[in-house]
Amino acid sequence: MGSAVPGLPLCSSAKAHTVMLRYTLNGIEATNVLGNCLSMVLGPGNLLLLSGDLGAGKTSLTKAIASGLGIEEKEVTSPSFTIIHEHLNGRLPLIHVDLYRLGPHADITEIGLEDYLNGENVVIIEWAEYLKDPLVETALKIDLGFVDEQSREVCLTGKTGIWGQRLLLLDDCMKASDILKLHP
Ligand SMILES: Nc1ncnc2c1ncn2[C@@H]1O[C@H](COP(=O)(O)OP(=O)(O)O)[C@@H](O)[C@H]1O
Ligand SMILES: [Mg+2]
Repeated sequence: MGSAVPGLPLCSSAKAHTVMLRYTLNGIEATNVLGNCLSMVLGPGNLLLLSGDLGAGKTSLTKAIASGLGIEEKEVTSPSFTIIHEHLNGRLPLIHVDLYRLGPHADITEIGLEDYLNGENVVIIEWAEYLKDPLVETALKIDLGFVDEQSREVCLTGKTGIWGQRLLLLDDCMKASDILKLHP
């Protein structure tokens, strides 16, 4: 189950008080630029909810964000038997959660995630569509989908109050990079 419905765009129309950004990521380099730009606008307590099919690029984006925060990229791995990974040696503490193994109706209390949502950490959740209860309204939702083997589509959605300014800066950062110009 993924958020990308074939033939339908990932970004639906923006709701009130919501900002939305959409990019086509042509190649892993573009995902790396997005992760790097995102890392620059993140602050303590930010929660990122990543959705999309297997192979859509969720772990790749998480690695790029981690790298931007100064965390060794190779520390960040795909799901193993550990559902929650802590990375504490970057600019901000990063908690990387992968719900794939839990399947639908994952309960954040059961896995002990609530303790990490304490306003200090950046928390990234892969397979957020598996959450039993949709998490806080303040999260940035990041939906990834396949375009083809060489490219992905991404839609970022967040409440204007918390994400408006950050997503403007993110968009500036993306436009300032050559990655979008290289692949119009
Ligand atoms: N923008 C992109 N364009 C092309 N390939 C990509 C892109 N982003 C990621 N990939 C590739 O897709 C594959 C799966 O990525 P991964 O991040 O493990 O997906 P997920 O965590 O969503 O299952 C990897 O080989 C990665 O290099
Ligand atoms: Mg993954």
